[in-house]
Amino acid sequence: MIINNIIDPLFANDPEMEDMSTGSNKYRVFYRSHLDDQGRLTRDEIVDLIKAEFPNRQFQNCLEWSAGVGFMGFDLLDHGVCQHLHLIEKYAPAVESATKTIDTNSLGSKATCQLADSITGISPRQFDLIVASPPQFKTFALYNSSFGEYALENWYDANCERMCVDTDWQEHVDFFAHCLDYLTNDGVIVLVEHESHIAEIETMVTAGLTGRRLSSSMIPGKLTYLILTRT
Ligand SMILES: C[S@@+](CC[C@H](N)C(=O)[O-])C[C@H]1O[C@@H](n2cnc3c(N)ncnc32)[C@H](O)[C@@H]1O
Repeated sequence: MIINNIIDPLFANDPEMEDMSTGSNKYRVFYRSHLDDQGRLTRDEIVDLIKAEFPNRQFQNCLEWSAGVGFMGFDLLDHGVCQHLHLIEKYAPAVESATKTIDTNSLGSKATCQLADSITGISPRQFDLIVASPPQFKTFALYNSSFGEYALENWYDANCERMCVDTDWQEHVDFFAHCLDYLTNDGVIVLVEHESHIAEIETMVTAGLTGRRLSSSMIPGKLTYLILTRT
């Protein structure tokens, strides 16, 4: 199902709708202020983590689910951790930024992005690396209570909800129900999750996968990487 085909009216006149670009290596990765979630902070760490955990391994096809503008995926491609990249994201403005990154860096033969809200929207194919920093709270209230400075009574932001809330974990459940269909036998899944609910996420992990946690040193006490492989 396609969620959103146009730029939200909420942001249409936002002066910060100007394109910005960043990159930790060769590529310029485009984004806009309201599309900037934690991937810009964690992309270096996830590149280093995957290199350290899987030394000498070159991944062929990487999928980034819940990709936003693809901060993590484009960096994995840029640093040679993977050869090809497919991004899937439900929010059209983020896909527009990712498309600009692909065009500007002439990545047409290496990277694709797709507007969809489930990995079941991907045509049958297999990935040996799947990464994601999906929404990390099952309610907006829990998001609020985890970030003290924003914990104002009745505070609400639709953009934050899109980025941070997976209502009752429906999107995680959908991901785990179908991820094995897209994972090679030797494939690896790396999820960036909030430490406060990592045990809950682990209960959803599909039979056939086994996982372990690694704490983030970039955002200690908040972020945990869940690394999953086939049993
Ligand atoms: C926590 S943000 C992370 C974005 C990006 N990975 C980053 O780190 O900057 C989660 C992203 O997932 C997208 N999203 C949420 N549910 C999704 C779903 N079911 N399918 C695809 N994208 C989804 C949101 O629109 C948002 O861009």
